[in-house]
Amino acid sequence: MKKYLIVTLFITTMLAASWTTKSSSEKTTHAKAVDEKWIENTISQMTLEEKVAMIHAQSKFSSPGVPRLGIPEVWCDDGPHGVRPETLWDAWASANWANDSCTAFPALTCLAATWDRELAALYGKSVGEEARYRGKTVLLGPGVNILRTPLNGRNFEYMGEDPYLASQMVVPYVQGVQSNGVSACVKHFALNNQEHKRHETNVSIDDRTLYEIYLPAFKAAVVDGGVWSVMGAYNLIGGEWCCENAHLLKDILKGEWGFDGVLMTDWGAVKSTEKCASNGLDLEYGTHTNGLDANVKNAYDSYCLARPYLEKLRTGELPESDLNDKVRRILRLELRTNMDRMRPFGRFTCPDHYAVARRIGAEGIVLLKNDNCRLPIKADAKKIVVLGENAIKPFTPGGGSSSLKVQHEVSIFDGIKAAFPNAEVVFERGYVGQPKHGSKTYNYGQYDLSDSRTPDRLTADAVAAVADADYVIFVGGLNKSRYQDTEGDDRKSMDLPYGQDAVIEAIAAVRPDMIYVNVSGNPVGMPWADKVDAILQDWYLGSEAGNSLADVLSGAVCPSGKLPFTIPVALEDGPIKSREQYPGIKDDDGIWQESYSEGVFVGYRWFQSKGVKPRFPFGYGLSYTTFEYGQARASSKKMGSSITISVPVKNTGSVAGAEVVQLYIHDAEASVERPEQELKGFEKVWLAPGECKTVKITFDRSALSFFDAASHNWIAEKGEFEARIGSSSDDIRSTVRFTL
Ligand code: BGC
Repeated sequence: MKKYLIVTLFITTMLAASWTTKSSSEKTTHAKAVDEKWIENTISQMTLEEKVAMIHAQSKFSSPGVPRLGIPEVWCDDGPHGVRPETLWDAWASANWANDSCTAFPALTCLAATWDRELAALYGKSVGEEARYRGKTVLLGPGVNILRTPLNGRNFEYMGEDPYLASQMVVPYVQGVQSNGVSACVKHFALNNQEHKRHETNVSIDDRTLYEIYLPAFKAAVVDGGVWSVMGAYNLIGGEWCCENAHLLKDILKGEWGFDGVLMTDWGAVKSTEKCASNGLDLEYGTHTNGLDANVKNAYDSYCLARPYLEKLRTGELPESDLNDKVRRILRLELRTNMDRMRPFGRFTCPDHYAVARRIGAEGIVLLKNDNCRLPIKADAKKIVVLGENAIKPFTPGGGSSSLKVQHEVSIFDGIKAAFPNAEVVFERGYVGQPKHGSKTYNYGQYDLSDSRTPDRLTADAVAAVADADYVIFVGGLNKSRYQDTEGDDRKSMDLPYGQDAVIEAIAAVRPDMIYVNVSGNPVGMPWADKVDAILQDWYLGSEAGNSLADVLSGAVCPSGKLPFTIPVALEDGPIKSREQYPGIKDDDGIWQESYSEGVFVGYRWFQSKGVKPRFPFGYGLSYTTFEYGQARASSKKMGSSITISVPVKNTGSVAGAEVVQLYIHDAEASVERPEQELKGFEKVWLAPGECKTVKITFDRSALSFFDAASHNWIAEKGEFEARIGSSSDDIRSTVRFTL
């Protein structure tokens, strides 16, 4: 008998296993300890002016140190997929340096799709090495905002829809970056789950949803990852701007989680000196130089945390203790980074960074469909026809602040050509999307892929080209142009742009054996999915994009990626049903009031609770081999401090491959409405043909709990649960019941 209502905190604690989020263990982050005495001594030697100088920018991406005391400047740079090229001191435009062309690593959605913690560590270490070589103190990333709507233009920079997956992947990334003496900066804290009106959206959310869905990855980065800096978001929560939000910054981040690092603004995300000074912000960047055109020269003195703050400190209107705490945190950052004499020197664009990028790219690609074993492409293929603009388009220059200037980016077409040297590899356009790149802001990576043919002509030419091909590969999807996967605004719909659906239908009518490769960082509509043999979810894969994809197409790499988000059949199938939920209703002050009224039912939590079939479920991905699961067994049928689930998994196919074994917890009976099941563990296992390994996944009570807003506690209720072991969220292979 488990069902009961939480009537009072007393009853709750009597019947349920609970623990407070403010427990002392949570107050200790794993951030590197530094010499706190030196910090206090240094603060005592600093003038008020020196302290204030330190807490706001002096250029687009830097803030001053204290030259008199030998304390260096802080230099930040985006993040998160590579190190952004140098900009001018006081403008967003590229400084046109000749030595800042970096390695671009795959976008974070791809990293999440690998479900491989070791790869996340390798990614962080490698991109951190590049940041270190380039002299950066802080790498502005990774982003861990949860995919709430497939329209969010910036989902490609994040780690999908599930808080557990994002938490597991962000920790090794952060630790990898910071092993170089470079700070990672987890962003955008919090609820910056859309780009549309990101500067004017106020989110209303209940505490349970906040704690269960949107905060865990940030908390993991802080508590488990020991991240040294966090970036506040542009939007408001509960009527307070995130970077000035005392509840978010003081109560949660610095209070409950014990964050001892620097909370910096997103660029231009603050409004008021009093609130910046008092509510938990430490470092201000981008004010009045916000955006791409509103550049005010020498604005730095009038930043909220500059002269206006100094004046209020001098008159005693604002206390120096708050200022000292900001300086203390920045000095901690200095000791962990610039002033750590033991930190490695860093490395830039070295062969192993390209190898890491290529490997992560290949391991993140998700095989969604492979009828008639269309893939891998046979080595003796004579003619391969590659269609679609995305096969020839460079993606690293676009996307907004994550835009990169690279030494090289292997296009998909070039990657395929290189992988099949004995085949005739032909390109035909099929459609024209956004053929040009080149802006004042990102004055690198220009290209012009213009084509004057009409859409009808392009389609006809594509259909004609495929007639005698052994293989037809259409490379479509999104790109990083406006209203696609890019910063600053959202997509307008989930549909493929530029009339691609019609072109795909026309080609599929003559070549139903075609292979569709989707380049995107977001779910896209695929109304023709039943009419093509094979579908691959490719991502923005960076410098080695074409090689990573070709590795999978050729079978050099057996696909093992799994979707970090649900791909719905239609946008309307998802949880967002009203304008109140998205994009909000504009109030008289010009603020878009938005309600996260779908609660915890985000992504697969929504689809499964409503019984709506997505096109491809969360956690799904095929392989060139097959895996057989044995019966899962629990170390105990009663939860003590933890339970370990063991399940034998065998490679029953003829090639080596990897399977991501996923653990979902189902609460059989609860006093609150809970999702049907939630991801609480996973392991990626590599198996040779015929090989069998026992995969073990351990979880504790936290995997059973929900957040109870009334008591501000995580509650694991007594009763029955199921540990479900699956190959995806929709493909459960074995279940074990247990009780708490
Ligand atoms: C973005 C941040 C980025 C910053 C600096 C902002 O517009 O939201 O993610 O780090 O610019 O480029």
